[in-house]
Amino acid sequence: MTDLPEQAPLAELREFLYSYLEGTPRAVEAARGVSFEVRRGERVGIVGPTQSGKSTVVYALAHLLRLKEGQVFHEGEDVAAAGYDRAALRRSVGVVFQRPDFQILEDVVGKDVAFGPTAAGVPAKETRERVEESLEAVGLSYPEFRLRYVHALSGGQKRRVALAGVLAMRAPLIVLDEPMAGLDPRGRDELFGLFERLREQRNLTMVMCSSSLADASLLCDRLIVLEEGRVAMDAPVREVLAGADRLDALGIALPEPVALARELRKILPDLPTDLLTEEELEEALLERLGESRA
Ligand SMILES: Nc1ncnc2c1ncn2[C@@H]1O[C@H](COP(=O)(O)OP(=O)(O)OP(=O)(O)O)[C@@H](O)[C@H]1O
Ligand SMILES: [Mg+2]
Repeated sequence: MTDLPEQAPLAELREFLYSYLEGTPRAVEAARGVSFEVRRGERVGIVGPTQSGKSTVVYALAHLLRLKEGQVFHEGEDVAAAGYDRAALRRSVGVVFQRPDFQILEDVVGKDVAFGPTAAGVPAKETRERVEESLEAVGLSYPEFRLRYVHALSGGQKRRVALAGVLAMRAPLIVLDEPMAGLDPRGRDELFGLFERLREQRNLTMVMCSSSLADASLLCDRLIVLEEGRVAMDAPVREVLAGADRLDALGIALPEPVALARELRKILPDLPTDLLTEEELEEALLERLGESRA
């Protein structure tokens, strides 16, 4: 290893402020000074009660908002600086919108996934390879799905096509707005499995916002909790879950094992709440019951 200076974070918001309908009586301050970093390879979840500014924050990271106050950095560079190549930047951040219908531009799966690379001038042969690779990466067999009509797919499959389109762009940062919203249990399971595989296979950095703390806890390494457009917590998942009382006070629904552990603390005050699964809760309980019997 050479003695390189520490790499800049992949993305960063600094004192980001944003209002919708500014200058009108219905103006809404959606972000009120949000700062955080996203490092390479991280999976960051943005959680918070409804209307807390989650979507606004992820849109800022995807450079979809006209920035007025605060700064957005990409690989250490201020994206609002004169001469910064914002077109190139768009290509280096992939966005998966909450509603795949907004995203899907072509009626046939293969064509839709090819849309981005084609528009970016990637040669036809390479585009074809990328389409195949991306569809396979999201668990849709290329020969089986490339000629299928998008409108005939299930919700989970549509979201996977949207994600394949983003992967085909080879964007190092992927931003997702409520990726689990509106999916049936099967679609959710498929998507969970997919995110696990992507994590193993690719060095992708992902930022997703979710109204479900349970989903975000299972999918992410670190969570940023928003409250009325401000960062209330920013810590590794377990550290955030350890603050169950605080989360509850913010009006965030707790994941089941966390909620149960919090209830049980009335009789077992040292029971931890930084639990991801029912099994972990069981283990923590057995440990404490064993101790009290010994
Ligand atoms: N296009 C818009 N025009 C006006 N106000 C908006 C717009 N989009 C969002 N807002 C307002 O900005 C605030 C933050 O909204 P945002 O969508 O970022 O929150 P959120 O946490 O993603 O909400 P949700 O849980 O509903 O997805 C809310 O008060 C919302 O009503
Ligand atoms: Mg939202």
